[in-house]
Amino acid sequence: MLKTLMMTAAVVALGTASAGAETVGFSQIGSESGWRAAETTLTRQQAEERGIDLKFSDAQQKQENQIAAIRSFVAQGVDAILIAPVVATGWDSVLEEAKEAEIPVVLLDRQIDGSDDLYLTAVGSDLVHEGSVAGEWLANEVGDGECRIVELQGTTGSSPAIDRANGFRKALEGKDNLEIVRSQTGDFTRSGGKEVMESFLQAENGGSGICALYAHNDDMALGAIQAIKEAGLNPGTDIKIVAIDAVPDYFQAMANGEANATVELTPNMAGPAFDALEKYWADGTAPEKFIQTESKLYTQSDDPQGEYEARKDLGY
Ligand code: AHR
Repeated sequence: MLKTLMMTAAVVALGTASAGAETVGFSQIGSESGWRAAETTLTRQQAEERGIDLKFSDAQQKQENQIAAIRSFVAQGVDAILIAPVVATGWDSVLEEAKEAEIPVVLLDRQIDGSDDLYLTAVGSDLVHEGSVAGEWLANEVGDGECRIVELQGTTGSSPAIDRANGFRKALEGKDNLEIVRSQTGDFTRSGGKEVMESFLQAENGGSGICALYAHNDDMALGAIQAIKEAGLNPGTDIKIVAIDAVPDYFQAMANGEANATVELTPNMAGPAFDALEKYWADGTAPEKFIQTESKLYTQSDDPQGEYEARKDLGY
């Protein structure tokens, strides 16, 4: 009897130690946008709900900080590492180190230029497709009219900046009435978007030469909306605006008639990442190399005020 009790206690103790005892290091880029803030909030929530001990590191937009954080996670012997890679290149050595230590790595929301052997899986959207959806929306909206477009690009060298630029251009192919006349990075920030838009407006006769703005994220578009209003123009009518993310403040701008369309990027990358890791930890099941999230287009006809209300308390 005593032996049975002792054995039961041992099994219970083992179960407690393994279930929910995993430690995951998360190297986040920073807090450049409302979308990024929501991704951080949701990752923390998802970890807490699953009993995962999340070690969070904010890289403040610097790749060297991310590399240092990953090395520290490897030294601590975490059970997995999540990385939102600020730029696409320069990850091979540090990911080799994680691989040698047999620590599974999951990429969140951005891709890297490198072998997919270096990570377990990547969770994210089809970034080229997002750009194409934005471009197709604009092309339909403009029809046969002439349209001079300005573009606010994301962080230089990041996969969303590269892919969203390419996807948009793909959608414009063969449409000679649509021309991208200016393109510059606003670094995915609201202040960057405002500053660069001010320079675009100045260079384009106070904005009279601009028909549309394509911003690689909503936060830059929101900064640009401010600049357009300060220049005495009406964003959303004088200058059409299409962006990417679907954050609450942008829906509010759409509801006010100051923005026209956005392509949704879910901030819940951690949910699918932890689902994949839990299966991997349980029995070694390897997930698909790319777990794709949806990219839905929202326009003025999609009840932007309702979308704002539904999202405003979600951590953006
Ligand atoms: O990688 C995803 C992008 O990064 C989001 O669109 C943007 O808001 C963020 O900063």
